[in-house]
Amino acid sequence: MQSFIKNMPKAELHVHLEGTLEPELSFALAKKNSVELPYKTPEELVAAYDFHDLPSFLSIYYAGMDVLIDEDDFYQLTYAYLTKARSQETLYSELFFDPQAHTTRGISFDTVIVGIHKAQVDAEQALGIKSQLIMCFLRDMSAESAMQHLDLAKPYLGWLVGVGLDSDERHNPPIKFIKVFSEAKKMGLKLTMHCDVNQQNTLIHIEQCISDIQIDRIDHGINSLESEVLCELIKDKKIGLTVCPISNRFVVQSLTSDEIHRMLNKDMLVTINSDDPAYFRAYLNENLIELQNEGKFDQNQIVTLVSNAFKIAWLDDATQDSYLQKLQRYVSQHCE
Ligand code: ADE
Ligand code: ZN
Repeated sequence: MQSFIKNMPKAELHVHLEGTLEPELSFALAKKNSVELPYKTPEELVAAYDFHDLPSFLSIYYAGMDVLIDEDDFYQLTYAYLTKARSQETLYSELFFDPQAHTTRGISFDTVIVGIHKAQVDAEQALGIKSQLIMCFLRDMSAESAMQHLDLAKPYLGWLVGVGLDSDERHNPPIKFIKVFSEAKKMGLKLTMHCDVNQQNTLIHIEQCISDIQIDRIDHGINSLESEVLCELIKDKKIGLTVCPISNRFVVQSLTSDEIHRMLNKDMLVTINSDDPAYFRAYLNENLIELQNEGKFDQNQIVTLVSNAFKIAWLDDATQDSYLQKLQRYVSQHCE
């Protein structure tokens, strides 16, 4: 089963580029940019990763970004993730980035997006991994700031596939961003939002995502299982859920394998993703393998989780079909 998972053609739809910053690259960039890190070695940095909830993760995640300064830093960050993903047979990835976490440090929007985009183009050509970019707004910042960043993105609209919403969910409901998401939709962008596991008012947030914002996908969304009505809505509207088992384990001490089984049984379009793989020390294969170990998913269920990702990807029909056919060929060659 492990080698079946490792060699499978896969897609990843929930990964924060800034969350792919490996300690070794962080040290190299710190040296290049003369940024002082409060740790002597990459191992010491990893030892300081102590997360038990969303805020404790976010403070370490934002502090880590201080080493990202120029266009080439964003290029290296993106190219390194795409190289790692491709080595795990991830053929397609949708990448979140957090421009406000950089503009607030004096880094221009253009520096960030140009560096990322160049790496996407080069990696597709050199490595054969396709990727698309999703601009996330930080929900603990104002709606006005989100709108300003949507304006900054207008010259680069062709480089974006969608917008998302991340960061601290407490007291920051989806509805706070209704205007900016409605504007983004008018611009032709797809919409997704985080509804992280076990957040205050989570069912209200999920309901707002679906009914008020009319999102295309929900990031995480595990708690929707607490409401039959929400599950039905998610299923009927074919809303994809990008679940991140190892990320969830830091908050709920389990890979949420029971919940993922329940979602599969309800025919909800659930997918498996890595979220912030450098921080959680696990990329897509490690998430799938650990999940399979905990939840005893059979081969068909693993195939469903992976094919769901291609099905809910923001791709045109022909590209989506070609990935699904590739997956189908792999499955027929490897399953009895
Ligand atoms: N930013 C990076 N990872 C995140 C997560 N899992 N939830 C909210 N914001 C994030
Ligand atoms: Zn996330």
